[in-house]
Amino acid sequence: MNVNIKETEIREVCEKVLDKIVPNGQKREQIRRFTKHLNNRVTKKLQNAGISAEISVQGSIAKDTWLAGDKDIDVFIILPKSTREVFQRVLEVIKTMVQDYVIAYAEHPYLKATIEDYEIDFVPSFQIQNAKEIVSSVDRTPLHTSYIKEKLNQETQNEVRLLKQFMRGIGIYGAEIKVQGFSGYLCELLILKYQSFIQTLMKFSEWQGSNVIDVENLYKGQYTEIKKKLNAPLIVIDPIDSVRNVAAAVSQENLGEFIITSRTFLENPQISFFFPPPRKPLSTSALNTKLSHLDFELIILLFQSKVIIPDILWGQLYKSLRIIRRLLIQYDFDVLKSKAWSNEKGTNALLFGLGSRYQSQTKKHVGPPSMSKEVTQFLTKYVAAESTVLDPWLEGSRWVVGVKRRYVDAVSLLNEKLHDSKAVGIPKQFVDDFKVSLQIKVNEEIMEYITLNKELATFVSDFLVGRPKWLR
Ligand code: CTP
Ligand code: MG
Repeated sequence: MNVNIKETEIREVCEKVLDKIVPNGQKREQIRRFTKHLNNRVTKKLQNAGISAEISVQGSIAKDTWLAGDKDIDVFIILPKSTREVFQRVLEVIKTMVQDYVIAYAEHPYLKATIEDYEIDFVPSFQIQNAKEIVSSVDRTPLHTSYIKEKLNQETQNEVRLLKQFMRGIGIYGAEIKVQGFSGYLCELLILKYQSFIQTLMKFSEWQGSNVIDVENLYKGQYTEIKKKLNAPLIVIDPIDSVRNVAAAVSQENLGEFIITSRTFLENPQISFFFPPPRKPLSTSALNTKLSHLDFELIILLFQSKVIIPDILWGQLYKSLRIIRRLLIQYDFDVLKSKAWSNEKGTNALLFGLGSRYQSQTKKHVGPPSMSKEVTQFLTKYVAAESTVLDPWLEGSRWVVGVKRRYVDAVSLLNEKLHDSKAVGIPKQFVDDFKVSLQIKVNEEIMEYITLNKELATFVSDFLVGRPKWLR
């Protein structure tokens, strides 16, 4: 690898970024006062309800790795180990304290509320001393917090901040289903392992894919077994729970993005990696012209769904995308690219770039070798079949036949299969939504929707002009 690193320039860029992302004394003091007050109120309310719990600020605020400007606070309500019913009781109490909230959970119940200017996650969890005792995955969080607090110092905390902001800038920060990227805790462990932001980038710019990152050397170099067990593009052993992969959420694509951006940044450091200019859609007329003259075909499925929490929504969208993609391929359509979009407020879109919307009426179907026993059966079946367009003939050593395709038009296929989509395996939540609201649009037919919807226009523009933002 011959990355030509521009060390001075890199440092200059990092300094500028740090100026923006390290919280100043005033901000710290604001948060400290706010959380202290909040802790007291929550403790009292719970006491009045007969629940004894330890209230504790966790996450990046506790670890001092939060980014200035972020308004998220993770408040944990740590309870003596018992049954999960207690979580509901706790959240009922919290509800009486806040006005604006959602109960939001995929796996574990928690409550998201806006208080003053802050976004608070109230997360009930059980107290544990050791990761072996966990009931649900959030129980590990306080152990993560203590571990990171012990290991990081002021300097490395800021290195974490740089890495987080870099990941955010290139769009791979966060372990949620929508993103499938790098979590805050993962960034912290990477800094512990490689000591600095730049060294982390240097390592990943030369990433070969076979190494396991084991900060505490829990496996003493013996990774064959655990690699098989965890089986993921990137494996980072959790120092407090050796059988858990902290990077389990990271997709192959996002690991790839990190590798190439690390290389590109080290060679050409720019602040825009951290703070990319806001995405803008192509102008309406440019988009219209482009969509009317595509060298492939863009099929957009638009539908409405009721608002569900993001992790569930994105899980279902990605699943639907995979199923429809497979369906198109099963009927011989050439799917070039597919992507999902949602405003998370009930409007969703699935985009498919096809080599062509229409295909030939007849295809050659290859049958058995001329010497095999199955030939008679093959011939009997296809000579009689209504779908046979060209009777079977021998081509070299194999029998072949010309058969009529079931679907020549991808839109007819989708219309037929998706208006009652249970049979094709579309997630339950969407089956009725498809029935009621599915619209299938091809190329410029989408214009009437995207002129009214800037977010969708931006997404469609990005789909068409997919060049990475950092590639100048
Ligand atoms: N957590 C959780 N459920 C939530 C919120 C947080 O389980 N609703 C846990 C996560 O598992 C994580 C910790 O709380 O271990 C902090 O989560 P998160 O806010 O995502 O990460 P931070 O380290 O705080 O990083 P950030 O700066 O992005 O907030
Ligand atoms: Mg947080």
